Amino acid sequence: MAEHLTVGRVAELTGVSVRTLHHYDEIGLMRPSARTSAGHRAYSTADVERLREVLAYRRLGFGLREIADLVDDPATDAVARLRRLRGLLLEQRDRAAAMVTAIDEELGARAMGIRTTPEEQLRMVGAQLYETIGSAYPATRRTEPRIAARVWEALGDARTVLNVGAGTGSYEPADREVTAVEPSAVMRAWRGPDAAPCVAAGAESLPFADQSFDAAMAFSTVHHWHDPVAGLREMRRVARRVVVFTHDASDTGWRRRFWLTRDYLPEVAGLVAGRPSADELARAIGGRLEPVLIPWDCADGFLEAYWRRPEAYLNDAVRRAVSVWTRVGPEAEQRAVHTLRDDLSSGRWAERNRELAALDAAELGLRLLVA
Ligand SMILES: C[S@@+](CC[C@H](N)C(=O)[O-])C[C@H]1O[C@@H](n2cnc3c(N)ncnc32)[C@H](O)[C@@H]1O
Repeated sequence: MAEHLTVGRVAELTGVSVRTLHHYDEIGLMRPSARTSAGHRAYSTADVERLREVLAYRRLGFGLREIADLVDDPATDAVARLRRLRGLLLEQRDRAAAMVTAIDEELGARAMGIRTTPEEQLRMVGAQLYETIGSAYPATRRTEPRIAARVWEALGDARTVLNVGAGTGSYEPADREVTAVEPSAVMRAWRGPDAAPCVAAGAESLPFADQSFDAAMAFSTVHHWHDPVAGLREMRRVARRVVVFTHDASDTGWRRRFWLTRDYLPEVAGLVAGRPSADELARAIGGRLEPVLIPWDCADGFLEAYWRRPEAYLNDAVRRAVSVWTRVGPEAEQRAVHTLRDDLSSGRWAERNRELAALDAAELGLRLLVA
């Protein structure tokens, strides 16, 4: 019985009552496979694995019947199920971060005597990351022509192009027939009247028939997808060519190359932990990776854009247009900004990053994935 845990011990470890565990047994959701000699329920290693999943879904707010369907899903193995769970938890964390940002905005408005409307108050409860930060996006996010040229070249002679996670459409080529896909209503609303038609959907389930486009592109969005590999396979399914601009989430890549994430925002490690590396993404769809150097005066204000203009990160508008700052939470953000400000005025930043002044473009782990 050594490898089994009694129901009392499981209750102690999980903070779930013995009564609840008995209920799960009675309805067949989580039946421990053994009994102790005294007749108490006992959980094997496999039981614990299933129970952990049940409890995590419960914490995410799923109903017991839905949970039964999820944990009994024969189509997924343990790793796929863990990845799905992880994606849902990250989504919950992002949503909480988005709500904190919305509350901070409301507190700021109240301090100035401005009251939010009932509609704004309700919107906050349903906040998704881009529903909250999307309104700040266009302030600094726009086409960087040198990177756009790389993307468009990689699209080859594609005439019809699907842009997945399209946002405001900064990188949509004007000389091809583009269809956009974007799940956030706020981001869709920013698209101009002349922008390509946009469908509300996520990358993981594209509402298009197999091979319906010459090419599918995705720019600076894969890191937001719950399941990047599933999303890329969907792109592969609907298009003959796939072009993706992303960062390499591997430990040796992007995070350590860039002074901001390395020296000021180590919390970013938690955001990318467990995410597939660029190599894994490329392998999943049989693609190749090309490094993309970031010019020192990059026009699109994504996270790495200001690598040679560090003062920019002290600007609230610059930070609000980049989701990482919301995702790490207000404490980490404030600490990073304060430390950077101090280091800039003391000359410490300049001392540490002396070699950057001579570079016109930097290799920061950004990649073009072409398949
Ligand atoms: C950093 S923005 C990039 C937008 C646009 N591609 C650009 O370069 O301006 C990331 C976008 O990914 C979208 N997104 C988030 N989750 C997604 C998903 N599962 N599938 C597709 N797009 C998603 C967000 O709503 C947001 O518009």
